[in-house]
Amino acid sequence: MHLSIWTAVLLGLVLTPALADNHQQTEISKKISIGGGYQIMTINRKWLVASIEQKTNHEYWKTIWNYDTGFVATKVLPERACYVSIMNRTEMPSFDGLPQLAADLRNQRHPRPPGKEITFTLIRRAIRDLQSYGPDIFSTCTGLSTYVAYEVHGPQFNLGSCLKLDVLQYLALTYCHNDNFV
Ligand SMILES: *[C@@H]1O[C@H](CO)[C@@H](O)[C@H](O)[C@H]1NC(C)=O
Repeated sequence: MHLSIWTAVLLGLVLTPALADNHQQTEISKKISIGGGYQIMTINRKWLVASIEQKTNHEYWKTIWNYDTGFVATKVLPERACYVSIMNRTEMPSFDGLPQLAADLRNQRHPRPPGKEITFTLIRRAIRDLQSYGPDIFSTCTGLSTYVAYEVHGPQFNLGSCLKLDVLQYLALTYCHNDNFV
């Protein structure tokens, strides 16, 4: 019995500084080069928000995953558009799994296609209360053309023109302008 108490005390002494350290670091950021550009992943543990942005010579996009409000917003330039969707938590990586995902990231000269894909159809709509989606999404999407993105499943026809974003070689977010709805 004494032994187990001492073990617990010792473990406590060893673990406490490590945990304290972890909590102080509210933001993790990692940059990798992919093909001709790079992607930066940022995880904010305090706000439960992750963002991934990609910059190449001809393209810029940033996707924000707000695990607190449960929304995903993706800003795409030069389209100057912002696609907002409800986060499907069964398809997205868990928030707690993101640090490991960041740790596993490696620079890629020849990127592989991601193993998972989520496809959305877009409806152009002015989003009145952008603030309720969280401050990051608000600041990212303010002033852009906003679209509501609805997930689609199964084989799709007439999806229109699609834009596929390879996020960290892990997840493809494909946004399609369904011309039938315009
Ligand atoms: C969320 O993802 C699951 C698994 O792919 C799917 O079955 C479900 O329909 C999705 N929910 C929505 C609202 O699209």
